[in-house]
Amino acid sequence: MTKAKIFSGVQPSGIPTIGNYIGAMKGFVELQDQYDATYCVVNQHAITVPQDPKTLAENTRQLAALYLAMGMDPNKSTIFVQSDVPAHAQVAWMILCLTGLGELERMTQFKDKANKQESVNAGLLAYPALMVGDIILYDAEYVPVGDDQRQHIELTRNFVDRFNNRYGDLLVKPEAIIPEEGGRVMSLQDPSSKMSKSDTNAKAFISLLDPPKTIIKKVKSAMTDSLGEVNYDTEQQPAVSNLLEIYANLSGQSIDQLVQAYQGKGYGQFKGDLADLIVSTLEPIQARYQILLEGSELDDILADGAKKANKQASQTLARMEKAIGLYY
Ligand code: AQP
Repeated sequence: MTKAKIFSGVQPSGIPTIGNYIGAMKGFVELQDQYDATYCVVNQHAITVPQDPKTLAENTRQLAALYLAMGMDPNKSTIFVQSDVPAHAQVAWMILCLTGLGELERMTQFKDKANKQESVNAGLLAYPALMVGDIILYDAEYVPVGDDQRQHIELTRNFVDRFNNRYGDLLVKPEAIIPEEGGRVMSLQDPSSKMSKSDTNAKAFISLLDPPKTIIKKVKSAMTDSLGEVNYDTEQQPAVSNLLEIYANLSGQSIDQLVQAYQGKGYGQFKGDLADLIVSTLEPIQARYQILLEGSELDDILADGAKKANKQASQTLARMEKAIGLYY
């Protein structure tokens, strides 16, 4: 039986956080047994905001090494870097020409990111079209993502409907797979904003490459409240509830079980145990990462992944070009 296809990616706009891990990357590993998976380091997305060239290149290779270190398996999944597959940029142009400006302007992630920039480039507005292309090129039926990408998946679904109505049933309409707990991990310093790898305050996130001491420090200094009770109440205790979601996701325990376990114990022990859990989750990933980063196996895997991805993507691209009339 042929497996259903899934696609997802992460931007090398910094080192991924435990938010990226819990919301998306952990799922990448779990899903690769069940699905025909394609996972991409979406470096072209990262240049929608200013990037230092050398840092971007380093982050790209490091992110690919992290993919493998956390268990993405090149024998099960296609793993590649977006700029190695020209069809992504090519298809994005077609998608842009078939997408209303208003649709892109409505994207909340565009508004959020635009507000943080001194000057906004056209790529930031166009970015969802590139993402629509990433997904449709691989005929993905499912896309494992965090909650912040929900609106982009909706845009993709609308685009597919529009394209298929106009040109015939050529594209697959995808569905998002979003974790029930941990779909939106919040900043450790401000529970009203999402944890982001490009946050200028390093205390706001835990990077997958943070050493144990840094992790312990960051968890200890994470914002809580003056109530002193470990409770899940996103209205009254959003910061503690965020820590509980992280704890539940990484431990496999339910939030109720955790609330019971920490009744009357205050935040000190809760935070200490959470920090230990994060350290023990990341330590084996970090150890494998170092080995992968230093060897050449990673480059071979990415070259092979690019070959496979190019083959599939160019077929979809050709199908779309023919439908639109880009031939003679
Ligand atoms: N805080 C989060 N909680 C849960 N999931 C998250 N994701 C991102 N932040 C959280 C999910 O991680 C995947 C990769 O994200 P991305 O790199 O494509 O871009 P992003 O969503 O913009 O992530 P960041 O960390 O906030 O990056 P920057 O700082 O560069 O903007 C996606 O599936 C995303 O949903």
